[in-house]
Amino acid sequence: MDADCFLGEHLDTLPLGGAWWVGFDGQTPVCYAGLARAGKKWSLTRAGVLASHRGHGLQRRLVRARERHARRRGATQVSSYTHAGNYPSANTLISCGYRLTKHWRSGGSTFLTWSKDFA
Ligand SMILES: CC(C)(COP(=O)(O)OP(=O)(O)OC[C@H]1O[C@@H](n2cnc3c(N)ncnc32)[C@H](O)[C@@H]1OP(=O)(O)O)[C@@H](O)C(=O)NCCC(=O)NCCS
Repeated sequence: MDADCFLGEHLDTLPLGGAWWVGFDGQTPVCYAGLARAGKKWSLTRAGVLASHRGHGLQRRLVRARERHARRRGATQVSSYTHAGNYPSANTLISCGYRLTKHWRSGGSTFLTWSKDFA
């Protein structure tokens, strides 16, 4: 997957009324992530890292950056969901302190919902 394709696939699904991040390696966009707001409960929406740049902690950094942004703006909770088979995303969320709150099925797939409360 090249960089243009990678971003183009997801641009129309980035959150409206929230914020998003794009990380660059030189001139090349290599990762992105979105954050949506609903009162004091925010959600991590969408994230991706270019295949050539995976496994270096970029997703974790994107989670942390979005948490900081949300906390500074009064968030009391951040949540997210993953496909049940997305082990890298699940591992990132678990190691960042998220807990599994429910699992649900849609369109033949199983999804997991995760959340983290801020003290
Ligand atoms: C999921 C994705 C964003 C991860 O990005 P990344 O920058 O490579 O992730 P990181 O390097 O931060 O690693 C995340 C965690 O996954 C773990 N991991 C990496 N590959 C793994 C694998 N094949 N199986 C299980 N865990 C794996 C890492 O060890 C790390 O866990 P840790 O924080 O406990 O050490 C990336 O693979 C991707 O863009 N996938 C396609 C799109 C997608 O699935 N987006 C997320 C939708 S929720």
